[in-house]
Amino acid sequence: MSYENNARIINDDIFDLINELFDEERSGRNNESRLDFFDTYKDYFVLTDDGSYSINSREINHKVETLHTSTGAISESFEKFIKPMKFDYTKDISILDICAGLGYNSSAAIADFMKNSNANLTIDMVEISAPTLACGLLVPSPIPEHDITKKAIEEELIGADYATLSLETTEIPENITLNVFIEDARKTVQKLKDDTYDAIFLDPFSQNMAPELFSVEFFKEFRRIIKDDGIIATYTSSAPVRAGFIDADFYIGLGPIFGRMQGGTLASPNPLMLDYSLPKNDEIRIALSDVGIPFRDYDLNNSSEEILNRRSEERHTARHTTKISSAVKTPIFLGQEMDDEKLKRRVERNLAKMNIPSTTSKEAHYIVEVENKYSKKQDIENNTRNRILEMKKRLKKIKMGN
Ligand SMILES: C[S@@+](CC[C@H](N)C(=O)[O-])C[C@H]1O[C@@H](n2cnc3c(N)ncnc32)[C@H](O)[C@@H]1O
Repeated sequence: MSYENNARIINDDIFDLINELFDEERSGRNNESRLDFFDTYKDYFVLTDDGSYSINSREINHKVETLHTSTGAISESFEKFIKPMKFDYTKDISILDICAGLGYNSSAAIADFMKNSNANLTIDMVEISAPTLACGLLVPSPIPEHDITKKAIEEELIGADYATLSLETTEIPENITLNVFIEDARKTVQKLKDDTYDAIFLDPFSQNMAPELFSVEFFKEFRRIIKDDGIIATYTSSAPVRAGFIDADFYIGLGPIFGRMQGGTLASPNPLMLDYSLPKNDEIRIALSDVGIPFRDYDLNNSSEEILNRRSEERHTARHTTKISSAVKTPIFLGQEMDDEKLKRRVERNLAKMNIPSTTSKEAHYIVEVENKYSKKQDIENNTRNRILEMKKRLKKIKMGN
């Protein structure tokens, strides 16, 4: 089956209902039935804590994810994607919204922009699934600016012969341009121009559902198309995702915490755009352990399974050769006294395979002493990226015996 047919998108039942609705619209029967779709099928939608609606994903490997956090779908857009940005609203702004879904992140960006700027805003929205975008037309708008996004989505769906009726009455303001791409984001990014975006919103399903949207190769395209002061925001705190940004030549920092235990991730070519370091143990794990092996998608066209399997094999090969085993969280004990004798034996067995005699040996201290300079606030010299790269270098040196 092709990637497009297999992609991780919305729940099959609502997907079929939306396709049927728009089949009817195209056939000219049942005009305007879009208007009562939500009331009829409300039970398929997920009400989140701030009153905005979300929707469930297709079931993959017995798992279902919701498109947004239950803490609040539209609040999540403002907290995770808009707040960490440092837009200079005296200038024109360009945003790439990857995995546009119901269009909430773009709508939040429009609302923030309209409050603060008279310049021009361009948003390129990318979403693989036409029915998911169409679903964005059917939900009640959580903020008035969502009507602007709806208008752009409707125009694109009409252009793509998915919809026929122009029912959205809100006009797109003259200083706002919204382009909608209905395709695999991996294809879209390869067509985009260098040095274009002030912000990239990266909002796929989780890394196990959609590793293809978290690969080093995908991030290298971001590195090409983002401006020098641009910022990428994503909700995940995953080690391979963060490692992927570093391999693609980004600085990384801690993103806002909202609806989760841990903060998300921000990335930028410029360390000064990122205020906060990752937590120390996250840096150590990314640098030294096999969890810090990123996702690889060399030609930007592999399936999720191929990418997950490739990473599993790479982790297996790296363990005890170039990386410390992630078992029992071994690397975070470097430089630490340990009371639990049983755990200590396991940790030190893993360390011995990397030529590190004990958690308190001079080798152990040497590798993590980089972290003595750790501060929450990042600067041009002292930041998460530089510390991770230095720890990696030191581990290699110890393993090679020099
Ligand atoms: C977590 S949801 C995004 C929610 C969205 N940002 C919003 O504001 O409603 C993830 C979305 O990624 C889309 N998607 C999955 N694979 C994709 C791909 N390869 N390229 C573009 N979009 C994709 C899904 O259809 C789904 O709508």
